[in-house]
Amino acid sequence: MIRGVLLLLALPGLALAQQGQAVFVNHCASCHAVERGAPEQAGPNLAGVMGRRIGGDPAFGYSPALEQAGAAWDRDRLLRFLADPEEMFPGTWMGANSLPQAAERAAVADYLQSVR
Ligand code: HEC
Repeated sequence: MIRGVLLLLALPGLALAQQGQAVFVNHCASCHAVERGAPEQAGPNLAGVMGRRIGGDPAFGYSPALEQAGAAWDRDRLLRFLADPEEMFPGTWMGANSLPQAAERAAVADYLQSVR
């Protein structure tokens, strides 16, 4: 009984991360790898990005905008960045690759939290 309740509580989070993976594959994977050690593509590798310094993939050459950000990624910052990268960091090279839908941003944030 208790196990069943715990499973039910865990399911929505799991579903969201899975949905986030789908959004990631459709909107982000063309430029970002998420497997640790995978080569950089047009954008930096995002394995372990949550909690990492902004502009913190040592193998990637960032724009000055991200180089100089001087903070670490957390959920709020990521949600803001994905809503409008250029508004948060004028001059970023991620350009207009935003996610207009809040539900998609939340799902991707959950997914990125899970790729360590
Ligand atoms: C057309 C290529 C492209 C697409 C599509 C793209 N990005 Fe990016 N992304 C970049 C580039 C280039 C940078 C580096 C920006 C800079 O240096 O200013 C970046 C940077 C980032 C960063 C900062 C990483 C760090 O190490 O500080 C995050 C987080 C990020 N992207 C997430 C995403 C997500 C999530 C998506 C999908 C919704 C996405 N990106 C779609 C090219 C892309």
